[in-house]
Amino acid sequence: MKTIAIDGPAAAGKGTLSRRIAEEFSFHHLDTGLTYRATAKALLDRGLPLDDEAVAADVARNLDLGGLDRAVLSAHAIGEAASKIAVMPSVRRALVEAQRSFAAREPGTVLDGRDIGTVVCPDALVKLYVTASPEVRAKRRYDEILAGGGVADYETILDDIVRRDERDMGRADSPLKPADDAHLLDTSEMSIEAAFSAAKSFIDTAL
Ligand code: C5P
Repeated sequence: MKTIAIDGPAAAGKGTLSRRIAEEFSFHHLDTGLTYRATAKALLDRGLPLDDEAVAADVARNLDLGGLDRAVLSAHAIGEAASKIAVMPSVRRALVEAQRSFAAREPGTVLDGRDIGTVVCPDALVKLYVTASPEVRAKRRYDEILAGGGVADYETILDDIVRRDERDMGRADSPLKPADDAHLLDTSEMSIEAAFSAAKSFIDTAL
């Protein structure tokens, strides 16, 4: 299986890096955060509770991976709801199954998320753990919102990132952490270009 596993906290640059790698190697790309977000959005849209594991797992089992679009899933409330249902083992089981079948696609795949190298694809060809300090991540998100013409408050974004990290790293099922055999890429003081060339050389060596 030619899978590149890319994990790390929110706003570390995983998305941009994953898309660049997928394009470079002509691999299929799945942003697994979108599977949690789409499940959360389906619950919110139907007025279903976010704290009923059986209901959430049922929605997760019926998710269509084909229709995922970050533009309609980017709302803050959806991200918050996603990280709440992401603690539920039966939701994770359903989504991990769908993610694994995606990972098997030819000629190869890039999956990014929180538990790809540790749980979803422990046999991935190359594992990367992409991180950056909470302050750098908050600043990037802040600049992104401003560049898009939006209004943002840096402190609120930073608080949010810290709380999301705590929830993702502290949960009992599949917490966010680097796999033992992951390459660490700290992008706090590294451009996306530099991170991409480092990643590309790990992959070229493994292929
Ligand atoms: O990366 P993104 O912000 O879109 O992910 C939304 C939420 O989904 C995360 O905060 C995390 O709790 C959850 N998630 C996860 N496992 C993944 C991907 C995302 O638990 N592989």
